[in-house]
Amino acid sequence: MAEIKIIYGSTTGNTEAAAEKIAAALGGTAIPVAEADGGSFQADLLILGSSTWGAGDLQDDWIAAEALLDAADLKDRTLALFGLGDQVGFGDTFADAVGILWRKVRSKGARVIGFTRTDGYEFLSSSAAENGCFAGLILDDNNQNDLTDSRIASWCDQLKQEAGLTDEKVAHS
Ligand SMILES: Cc1cc2nc3c(=O)[nH]c(=O)nc-3n(C[C@H](O)[C@H](O)[C@H](O)COP(=O)(O)O)c2cc1C
Repeated sequence: MAEIKIIYGSTTGNTEAAAEKIAAALGGTAIPVAEADGGSFQADLLILGSSTWGAGDLQDDWIAAEALLDAADLKDRTLALFGLGDQVGFGDTFADAVGILWRKVRSKGARVIGFTRTDGYEFLSSSAAENGCFAGLILDDNNQNDLTDSRIASWCDQLKQEAGLTDEKVAHS
């Protein structure tokens, strides 16, 4: 059975709620990054999530855990990213935390899956976006809360396909 871990950082609970929903949909385990250790980064499918704070910064618990991420062996690991942001209030740094994680895991040789189209979002700039795609699932509970559940559901279906997880391989919780 495929082991799926979702490691997330969340300040006001939005990313945490998304992580729990992703875990339920995929039969994975959601782990707050503040409680993660080196072993937490070993999984058949590793999913990392962060909201964006400050002006395009990682969420605080991720900043504190950066050494842990730096030390993780991600070579050829199948990995997906998600993040929460506010495209209206912070349209020039929209979901930049996902862009920060993306660059980091890419430089460590991870196989990043789960890209999504930027259609349906309105923002000026995002380091998580390239060529009309985000490097993962982007959620905006501030402005598009009504879309969060359907975006999570279709992204989880996409991940199952891209990671080659059949329903038999995915644990049901
Ligand atoms: C002070 C502050 C700074 C923020 N900075 C950004 C930002 O630069 N880019 C962005 O997309 N969202 C930004 N946000 C929005 C948060 O990412 C958003 O509210 C998110 O849902 C919080 O998720 P969390 O509760 O999991 O931490 C900011 C919010 C606050 C209050």
